[in-house]
Amino acid sequence: MTNNEEEVLGLPIEDRRWPTNFGIDNGIYPTGKKYNLATKNIEKFWNEEAKHLDWYKSWDKVLEWKNPFAKWFVGGKINACYNAVDRHIKTHKKTKAAIIWEGEPGDTRVLTYLDLFREVNNFSSALKKLGIKKGDKIAICMPMIPEFQIAILSAARIGAVFTVIFSGFSANALAGRINDSQAKLVITTDGGYRRGKVIELKNIVDDAVKETPSVKNVIVYKRVGNDIKMVNKRDHWWDDLVKNEIAYVEPEQVESSHPLYILYTSGTTGKPKGVLHSTGGYLLYANRTTKWVFDVNDEDIYWCSADIGWVTGHTYIIFGPLSNGITSIMYEGAPDYPKKDRWWEIIEKYKVTILYTAPTAIRALMKFGDELPNKHDLNSLRILGTVGEPINPAAWEWYYNIIGGGRCPISDTWWQTETGGALISAAPNLRLFPLKPGSATYPLPGIEAEVVDEKGNVLENGRKGYIVIKKPWPGMFMGLYNDDVRYKEVYWSKFPGIYYPGDYAIKDNDGYFWLLGRADEVLNVAGHRLGTIEIEDVLVSHSSVAESAVAGRPDDIKGEAIVAFVTLKHGYEPTEELRQELAKHVKVELSSIAVPSELYFVNTLPKTRSGKIMRRIVKAIASGKTVGDITTIEEEASVDEIRAALDGLKKK
Ligand code: WTA
Repeated sequence: MTNNEEEVLGLPIEDRRWPTNFGIDNGIYPTGKKYNLATKNIEKFWNEEAKHLDWYKSWDKVLEWKNPFAKWFVGGKINACYNAVDRHIKTHKKTKAAIIWEGEPGDTRVLTYLDLFREVNNFSSALKKLGIKKGDKIAICMPMIPEFQIAILSAARIGAVFTVIFSGFSANALAGRINDSQAKLVITTDGGYRRGKVIELKNIVDDAVKETPSVKNVIVYKRVGNDIKMVNKRDHWWDDLVKNEIAYVEPEQVESSHPLYILYTSGTTGKPKGVLHSTGGYLLYANRTTKWVFDVNDEDIYWCSADIGWVTGHTYIIFGPLSNGITSIMYEGAPDYPKKDRWWEIIEKYKVTILYTAPTAIRALMKFGDELPNKHDLNSLRILGTVGEPINPAAWEWYYNIIGGGRCPISDTWWQTETGGALISAAPNLRLFPLKPGSATYPLPGIEAEVVDEKGNVLENGRKGYIVIKKPWPGMFMGLYNDDVRYKEVYWSKFPGIYYPGDYAIKDNDGYFWLLGRADEVLNVAGHRLGTIEIEDVLVSHSSVAESAVAGRPDDIKGEAIVAFVTLKHGYEPTEELRQELAKHVKVELSSIAVPSELYFVNTLPKTRSGKIMRRIVKAIASGKTVGDITTIEEEASVDEIRAALDGLKKK
């Protein structure tokens, strides 16, 4: 056990007690029909599972695997919106709530599956009238309101490819993503609420669209009623477009591998990666994993607290829950606004049965003490989930005991934007097995995971290495948008022909997987994925900055916090004003989530003889650890300097 794992997880793995025995404790890898069939024959397994969706035309072939490109259900035709909405209105679910929405100011709305059907048809018709066709790209940047879901479902209905851009991004980040995807249309709102304040979303979109010649139209939903500028002919109010519609728009019957969406995520270069997902395979994986991991049933009230701006929202707010025909809570605002027990109040009010959230949120709410959740009746809860980062045992136990009342299994779901859905997680719907706080437990059916060393050799149990996935699964991304070279290089070249997610892991003697965070230059700040180089590029784009190095250091709440070191160009002085200006620069150019918690001015950065910044050293210093082997550093003095700068600043 190295310091690193203890730091991530809090306790050596051997010392973790097994607090809960869900079901039979035979201590062995999950067995049972589904796991066995999936292990023996993935194609036969997925062939059966695919019957949970409605297809216009059945497939000729389950999987076409031309490593590293997979096509699932080749020849099959399907529509994701039909599966999420239309098929339920033929059943008793017609009048069942699909979305129970709670706005931050306290306003509420309920949309039944029939309501959703109507809204989606009307909006699909509006999209068509604006000339949007199958294969066109649509950018969506919205706060957490039902229209966010309606916009996405409508795009899917007409076969348009949507790309959601998190509403916390800057105009620049937005423009970059729109230009990469060549979106013709942007869907947004006049603004959004966050902690009682209005976020001026339309202004950000206006600034972005100045730089995006592909955009011909902008649709604006009125959420807050603030004063905004509408550009003649380009901008359209959502309500005006749908007000005279009573439409039925036939869902477009698309090929299973027709792209459903592109979602940009951070990698190890400055340019975000456009992760491209299919329709049939992705939807199936979203559907089945929602069922397995959360055991969703007709009577459940399910709540995934993610923002739809991230993949968790795509899969586990929209496509997974809706294709299973369940009722979801959607909450617009911050967890602690206007009161610190807002979430617990919502659970009590709607009798939520399944809660899916992130360790960062759990840790932040835990800090407010047990009194707040204890004030509320949380007895309706029966399953809890976490995602986005390793969960430390203290937060796990609090979640388990205080929120779950010691009754509810925790599904710790390990996955990525690229994987489309959970790969490693408990699956209370399939088989119950003992949980270990901090372990995501076992791979789901059909997922073959291993922990390997640098050369790709499978490591013995208990040793830390890289997690790899050895066979394709239906939720696997189809590639990076317009960039096959990067796709092959980033994911399939470290271990040829095997998927490399870029995470460290340990498999223990019981076959449980412990995910230990990123093995590459990607930070995970409060569950948000950010590339160190992305932030460095932004810092260097400021006129005063010569060089920068960004690293993460462990943070009690956010998991990781951003620390930046910069060297200044000749003629610039390291002042507090400049520090603040640089923070603002990062906010404006990228996002407020990327603003460093600490920013230090230094004279030089530690580099190798070839001039590459030694991130390992920067990271160690930022984390207050020993620096280790520094023989390859060009200028040893710079390490002392960084440390001195850090010490100096900490004393302030
Ligand atoms: C991390 C979010 C430990 C991991 C769905 C991964 C986790 C990255 C877990 C992907 C978990 C996600 N335990 N680490 N349960 N879930 N991660 O693309 O490092 O935003 O590579 O997808 O989050 O982040 P992304």
